[in-house]
Amino acid sequence: MENKKIIIGNWKMNPRSLKEAEKLFGAIVKNISSIKKTEIVICPPFLYLEKLKKISKKIILGAQDAFPGEVGAFTGEISAEMLYNIGARYVILGHSEKRALGETNEMVNKKIKASFFAGLRPILCVGERARDLSHGYFNFVKIQLEECLAGISKNSISKIIIAYEPIWAISSTPDRKDAIPADSLEMAIFIRKILSDKFGSDAGRVRIIYGGSVNEKDAEDFLQNGGVDGLLPGKASLDAKKFVEIIKICEALNQ
Ligand code: PGA
Repeated sequence: MENKKIIIGNWKMNPRSLKEAEKLFGAIVKNISSIKKTEIVICPPFLYLEKLKKISKKIILGAQDAFPGEVGAFTGEISAEMLYNIGARYVILGHSEKRALGETNEMVNKKIKASFFAGLRPILCVGERARDLSHGYFNFVKIQLEECLAGISKNSISKIIIAYEPIWAISSTPDRKDAIPADSLEMAIFIRKILSDKFGSDAGRVRIIYGGSVNEKDAEDFLQNGGVDGLLPGKASLDAKKFVEIIKICEALNQ
């Protein structure tokens, strides 16, 4: 499983109802029967996980957050274990939209540890707000990685996915700019170097993926020239046709 290319849909807080979620999910499922070499993951809102789980085994489900405690007095929170128990196998952690609400690297680190403990594979999001001419953004991502991965063992590291998501390219960012595969490539190389310095050869199996307004038009270019093992589309994953097209592009490149 580890080395398969992977396409992960981040539905964020969409769609509005379970009915719409089932319709979107069903439309994707209907069109992916020929997919063999690409791992497909969808991360819907918590509430839809259990129902969607019953529709298909071909799509692996992920959550968009997990609380770093097991059980107890944590009003409003959902634990990694609860998510695992209803069928989630991945969890997006450290997304910039959560970080914007106050999530720190230290909190992400605790969530990663709790997720591993529960059997969930973390999809750790990193990425800079803006690019500066003096290349300080490399250091920003380095600190994110070091702090979020503090205390993670060499044995666990290959199960993690690192999603490089430059905030300036994400579709919800006002005045966003397009990233190009060269932006993804230089950061993927940099991330790999940091991981191999910290974790040695085990880091070679970590999948690094790209996200930030990726769509059916540029998916091929990012997969071929962006130095990544997969993609994390947000907006494009809410359109069954576009999402399926991205999956098929990934599959075709792996023939
Ligand atoms: P986007 O979202 O594809 O809509 O930019 C990606 C993400 O934020 O995960």
